[in-house]
Amino acid sequence: MLKVNQNYLKLPGSYLFSDIAKKVKGYKEEHQGQEVISLGIGDVTRPLTPTIIKALHDAVDDMADIERFHGYGPDLGYAFLREKIAEFDFKRRGCEVSADEIFVSDGAKSDSGNIQEIFAETCSIAVSDPVYPVYVDSNVMAGRTGTYDPASTRWSDVVYMPCTKDNDFVPDLPSKTPDIIYICSPNNPTGKALTRDQLQSFVDYALKNRSVILFDAAYEAYISDENVPHSIYECEGARDCAIEMRSFSKNAGFTGVRLGYTVVPKNLCDAEGNSLYALWSRRHGTKFNGASYIQQRAGEAVYTTEGQREIAGLVFYYMENARTIRNGLTSAGFTVYGGVNAPYIWLKTPDNMSSWEFFDYLLHKAQVVGTPGSGFGPSGEGYFRLTAFGSHKNTRNAVERIVSLA
Ligand code: MLT
Repeated sequence: MLKVNQNYLKLPGSYLFSDIAKKVKGYKEEHQGQEVISLGIGDVTRPLTPTIIKALHDAVDDMADIERFHGYGPDLGYAFLREKIAEFDFKRRGCEVSADEIFVSDGAKSDSGNIQEIFAETCSIAVSDPVYPVYVDSNVMAGRTGTYDPASTRWSDVVYMPCTKDNDFVPDLPSKTPDIIYICSPNNPTGKALTRDQLQSFVDYALKNRSVILFDAAYEAYISDENVPHSIYECEGARDCAIEMRSFSKNAGFTGVRLGYTVVPKNLCDAEGNSLYALWSRRHGTKFNGASYIQQRAGEAVYTTEGQREIAGLVFYYMENARTIRNGLTSAGFTVYGGVNAPYIWLKTPDNMSSWEFFDYLLHKAQVVGTPGSGFGPSGEGYFRLTAFGSHKNTRNAVERIVSLA
């Protein structure tokens, strides 16, 4: 008898950003001609930089040449890109990661959703709360999360690590020992970045308890504080307990190009000595034919001197937006967090509005779209996320509109 994967039926509602897109579409259809500003999904708005565009064009030209044409690429990514990543993202920061421990992919979303496949269904997971919804949802799909309680919006088998104003949005160590710990720093959605000591305490905990940390560093380019590590491998012992995922989306504007990578150290094993590297290689080889040659050449260009200068310009541009939002909303009396080492601003909803009430209020009264904090987990209720990835003009206008309501 044909039967769907019953775990999928447990997922409440649709994916957060699809729900938002549907609401905004409905609003626009009913209010034609009104200009809606989106500071919702963290999608970049600046065009690709000249060095990247040239690399893309050159790679397309390669594909038109009989000598330089490329068909299927190597499973794990082209050496020309993996070597640059190892050198620039790790060796230069004193981290021991070799090129062949880097698995090139089409982005951190798919890697962070897929990586759980190499762990047993019986493994328990811990997530900071609020959290990027992909981590929990992909584990729901794999049957690891137990039952859902709509009243508390919690899954019975997930260990939540609440991040609230009381702990300054820094998760406490898990209350119950999990097998897998998801950490995203700088954090989506709160914008909080863990210091070296804070991250080291998670590494120490994972080593002591034989847990694995799945570390999402998609926003590392936004770190300005020297005391905040860009990679978990800056922490002692992390090679024995951590997998790291990275993206070219937020630093180099590749949300539409697609490119990312995951680092799985060769020495990383489960409790029975099975190599996680071997399993992820096997999974990659079976289910993935690689990011295209063209994407990977564009990724390589990110590491040139010009490429690095240009992407620093992108980060600077978006962080100006973060300042505009933080300063504008703070002066208007909002309680605002994040936006310092991260392109997300996390604000308390005013007048005890729920996250979705505030979403509707802003959409209808100011035509500004943000992301309801409750969509990221139970501790996100009463909060709201704004992204700094808009244009300067839209960001200024959005802030003016929100402030005029206060
Ligand atoms: C977000 O808005 O949380 C991110 O853009 C989503 C993503 O990177 O997939």
